[in-house]
Formats: sequence, C-alpha cells, structure tokens
Amino acid sequence: MTVLIRHAEPDDYEGMRDVMNQPLAMAGTLQLPFPSLEMWKQRIAETKDTDKRLVAVMDGRIVGNLGLHLAAWQHRRRHAYGVGMAVHDDFARRGVGTALMAAAIDLADNWMQIQRLELTVYVDNAPAIALYRKFGFEIEGTHQRYAFRSGAFTDSHTMARIRPL
Ligand SMILES: CC(C)(COP(=O)(O)OP(=O)(O)OC[C@H]1O[C@@H](n2cnc3c(N)ncnc32)[C@H](O)[C@@H]1OP(=O)(O)O)[C@@H](O)C(=O)NCCC(=O)NCCS
Repeated sequence: MTVLIRHAEPDDYEGMRDVMNQPLAMAGTLQLPFPSLEMWKQRIAETKDTDKRLVAVMDGRIVGNLGLHLAAWQHRRRHAYGVGMAVHDDFARRGVGTALMAAAIDLADNWMQIQRLELTVYVDNAPAIALYRKFGFEIEGTHQRYAFRSGAFTDSHTMARIRPL
C-alpha cells in the first residue's frame, strides 16, 4: 500500500488524535493519556504560518504525522526547526516514518532554507534513533531526567541534522 504525504487539514484532528493515542506514540513523545478531540482540533487550527504539520495517509486513513516547528522566534535562530513525529502502532515498520522524514527533509533543505533540524528522543527509543541516524541526525548530548514516563523519569538525547553543503 502506498503512503501519501500531505499537509494536515482541519478535518484531520480525529486521525491525528488516534495516532498520538497509541501506546508507543505515548511512550515515545510528551503526550498524556486521554487526549481529547477538542485539543487536537485546536492544535491543527492553531498551526502557525512558520510551521508545517505533515500527515501520512494509507488507504484514506491517517497513519502518521510529523511537525516542523520554528525552534525560536529570535531572528538569529530562524534557521533552526524542531521535529516531532509518530506513526500509528498498527502501521509501524512499513516505511511510514521514512516517507514522513524524507518529505520533511526535502522541505527543509530545498524549500525552507532550514540549516538545522533538532529534536529530543528518549535514550531507549532505538527505533526512532535508528530512523534519525539514517537521515543524518547525530547525538549532541544527553538530558538527564528529561521527562516523566509511565511512573519513572527518563533521559533523552538531543539530536540534530545539519543541512549538507
Ligand atoms: C520511530 C517511528 C516514527 C518509526 O516509524 P516507522 O514507520 O516504524 O519507521 P520505518 O518503517 O520507516 O523505518 C525506518 C527506520 O527506522 C528504524 N526502525 C523502525 N522500527 C524499528 C524497530 N522496531 N527496531 C529498530 N529499528 C527500527 C530502522 O532504522 C528503519 O529503517 P530500515 O527499515 O531500513 O531498517 C515509530 O516507531 C513511532 O512512531 N514510534 C512511536 C513514537 C515515537 O517514538 N516518536 C519519536 C519521538 S522522538
């Protein structure tokens, strides 16, 4: 089945909520359990002009999403964007994450003049770290007790990809 990548539209909030409500998506991100539809409706509606919110669609269903967010409002950091992503648990390991990241990197490198993509990832999230390394992200450091997850604190790596010359 082919993966279509497109920008999120206002009506995508239910599909986005369902992706982010999966056990692996919850464990790998900063989401809380019981995300409401209203919260996702608002998040999509409030997407800033500077940002991009991509969704992956298979057979008409939203199976993943990736956000590109301006890292800071100051002019001197306008070349840096944060990345966040998740794939629906039922569609893991089918190339959805790769399709989303490839689209984001094309946008970053060839259209948006982004020099630096940055993200944080829990140190035990081997699938995500492998995906990021495949696209040229490197670990720059480690935050201790970065976030609370399932009853315990967890460390996270900060990773970045610098646009090749
Ligand atoms: C990380 C994530 C986005 C990967 O998405 P995906 O659609 O499964 O990824 P793909 O099928 O495109 O695989 C891409 C690469 O990721 C790595 N990967 C994916 N799943 C993996 C697994 N279970 N174990 C090891 N590596 C894995 C591999 O390097 C793979 O490349 P390969 O197939 O050439 O070996 C997905 O697992 C996910 O959403 N996890 C939960 C949320 C999350 O952790 N988000 C990241 C927050 S920082």
